[in-house]
Amino acid sequence: MEFNKEFATLTLPDRDPIQIPVITDNMGEKSIDVRNLRKETGYITYDPGFVNTGSCNSSICYIDGEKGILRYRGYDIEDLVNNCDFVEVAYLLIKGELPNYEERRRYAELLNRESMLHYDMQSFFRRYPQDSHPMSILAAMSVSLSAFYPEMDDIDPEAQIDFAVTRLLSKIRTITAFTYRQMLGEEFVPPSFKYSYGENFLNMMFKSPVNDYQINPLHVKALNQLLILHADHEQNCSTTAVRLIASAGANLYASISAGICALWGPKHGGANQAVIEMLENAIANNMGAKDIVEQVKERNNTFRLMGFGHRVYKTYDPRSMIAKRLLQEILDLNTTHDPLLELALELEEAAVNDDYFKERNLYPNVDFYTGIIFRRLGIPTNMFTCMFAMGRLPGWIAHWLEWTNDPYGKIGRPRQIYDGLSLRKVIPIDER
Ligand code: SDX
Repeated sequence: MEFNKEFATLTLPDRDPIQIPVITDNMGEKSIDVRNLRKETGYITYDPGFVNTGSCNSSICYIDGEKGILRYRGYDIEDLVNNCDFVEVAYLLIKGELPNYEERRRYAELLNRESMLHYDMQSFFRRYPQDSHPMSILAAMSVSLSAFYPEMDDIDPEAQIDFAVTRLLSKIRTITAFTYRQMLGEEFVPPSFKYSYGENFLNMMFKSPVNDYQINPLHVKALNQLLILHADHEQNCSTTAVRLIASAGANLYASISAGICALWGPKHGGANQAVIEMLENAIANNMGAKDIVEQVKERNNTFRLMGFGHRVYKTYDPRSMIAKRLLQEILDLNTTHDPLLELALELEEAAVNDDYFKERNLYPNVDFYTGIIFRRLGIPTNMFTCMFAMGRLPGWIAHWLEWTNDPYGKIGRPRQIYDGLSLRKVIPIDER
């Protein structure tokens, strides 16, 4: 990264032009360093939604939205999906390097050891209504971990980061599975040392005394690949929430809980659930792909094509193409008809060839196909965003650590453009 080699000249209406440093990052992207702008000029910048604003330095994830590139710690997403499992990628995001065989074994051992949930915490689940949205339970349980494991509050990155992080990675998986069992009103299935991360999750979700549930290796492979696709994505809304809470010095569990809440929004991680609901609703109302596209284009209609569009990608989200390929792969050989998939494929074809979408660079994003895959793994629609959270957890943890160790890490506190009233005096209530 290069600082202060180039400068921008800012000419303001009421003062002499000033020189502002330009930063060139490791991929050649340029930014204007406005850290001293207000101190030097009294001016602030205005950028609602942070569309043009960099909030930090980061070395975890790189996206090129124009070329559809996504890399974790320098590795391309396709390379990781094809050659690693989720635990390796979690290790990579959090520690910066892929593990060797011994490191991977030790991490798996820690994950396994930390997979149980405190007995008293388990009773929480039974107090939720069975129709609670799973994300409300996941967010609450995540922050409750700090009550049951207070020693994790002031994590000493040197001494116990592996312990804290594997505890969280492992328990969020258990909490997600127990949430599903609570929805069914069924007994919890405990984790087992016999299984891998993915096998354990599927077993805790679907093992039952009344059927001979067998873990399907193809489903384990699909789950690993889906979790890798979701594992990180630069400064997205939920990661920014995690970093903002971290900047106040809050503990890891509180920060992750904030990330879970941000991810819940249908504009963000909740879109995978919204895609399935959109497709099911269209089928129930005999609407075809073109009807949906036309519904989106009616300007007085706030209907958006869920699973399409992205703040950064202005071409195909590389994850959507990997998910589409994975979907074709896991479809049972004898399954010839999946109405949701057929409508999704038609919808992609219709939208990407329609001027409204082309003019706005709207393409399928990570959520367009992943919901159909989760559904084929037997995961109910309202659990999809929990699956996104389980995948995104190592990314959130990596960003929490990066902020916590950032020498410049100031508390996040944006300014504003005030459009309220000027000073006025209070009138006594009996005169109002
Ligand atoms: C994720 O940031 C990340 O990295 C997020 C994520 C991650 O891994 O963390 O990638 C995960 O959140 C993926 C996105 C999932 N959300 C959806 O699929 C919901 C549908 N998509 C949109 O709501 C929207 O595309 C956003 C929220 C994703 C991005 O919105 P932006 O960047 O703020 O764009 P915008 O709202 O300013 O829209 C620009 C134009 C508008 O039209 P005009 O006013 O210019 O005429 O594009 C239109 C919008 O109306 N538009 C859409 C659309 N998305 C944008 N029109 C129809 N359908 C859509 N999906």
